Amino acid sequence: MGRLDGKVAVITGAASGIGRATAVRFAGEGAAVVIADLNAEGGEAAMREARENGGRAVFQKTNVERGEDIKAAVDRAVKEFGRLDIIFNNAGLGGAVGPIEETTFENWDRTMAILLRAVFAGIKFSVPEMRKVGGGSIISTASVAGLRGGAGPHAYSAAKAAVINLTRSVAIELGKDRIRVNCICPGGIVTPLIYSRLPGGEPVAQQFFSQIQPIPRAGRPDDIAAMALFLASDDSEWVTGTAMVVDGGLTAGSPLSRERMQGRVMPTGGFAGPSFEKQ
Ligand SMILES: NC(=O)c1ccc[n+]([C@@H]2O[C@H](COP(=O)([O-])OP(=O)(O)OC[C@H]3O[C@@H](n4cnc5c(N)ncnc54)[C@H](O)[C@@H]3O)[C@@H](O)[C@H]2O)c1
Repeated sequence: MGRLDGKVAVITGAASGIGRATAVRFAGEGAAVVIADLNAEGGEAAMREARENGGRAVFQKTNVERGEDIKAAVDRAVKEFGRLDIIFNNAGLGGAVGPIEETTFENWDRTMAILLRAVFAGIKFSVPEMRKVGGGSIISTASVAGLRGGAGPHAYSAAKAAVINLTRSVAIELGKDRIRVNCICPGGIVTPLIYSRLPGGEPVAQQFFSQIQPIPRAGRPDDIAAMALFLASDDSEWVTGTAMVVDGGLTAGSPLSRERMQGRVMPTGGFAGPSFEKQ
């Protein structure tokens, strides 16, 4: 028996990376999945992979910049599979990059449309369908960049922080309808978003991301798919309004800074007593 037997999900950004791993995982747990993405080639491949993993899946070409495309993905789920229980608002990109004073209004607005307005649209259009079936689970991909500075470009960080608080705000409204609203804050996950424009590509990203957090390996799309599965399943029945951090300990603190502190401002062993007592 799968953990999502009988459930129907829409996943945006499911042609690649985190969304694709989640689509395959959901299908393997018995869900029917609408793979919604701008990338048709990747989307068709993800659809085949999800089917090979045992579930039903269709591809719906979707540009999340367009609200009507997101509505069409929700409608496809209902037309194809009869209902909607889960939406994973996950599509994303780096968006506007570079110094703040050189960021154009156009690039800022486009970043917000893809990373924030699309999440709003995914929530807006899925709620009526979830009400019809007595509840549901709305999951969005935020980021550790939405929790602190310096973990992403400016517009990206602002959009992800907004996704976290939109999650909380809407969770309060929809709790009575048994519609749960949560988001996930991934740390460094090695996906094409990270390495497609990186000199040296995937190996360089693997190497870099294996060092920046306490758990000494880079994040994998499956790490996030596992959390999405928890939030989609009935195991998280009493969980709403949360921002689940899945980051190998990145936001707990850097292992490098701890090593540098030891032996400099902090003793390496024993007990650090009151400051007025000399050693
Ligand atoms: N990789 C990381 O380290 C990391 C960390 C934190 C958060 N995230 C977030 O995770 C989510 C997934 O990213 P990923 O790392 O899997 O990257 P990815 O590039 O592998 O996947 C992103 C997917 O979104 C799709 N997409 C982009 N713009 C779209 C649009 N306008 N309409 C429809 N689809 C569109 C892409 O085609 C792609 O399939 C994003 O929201 C990203 O911001 C990633």
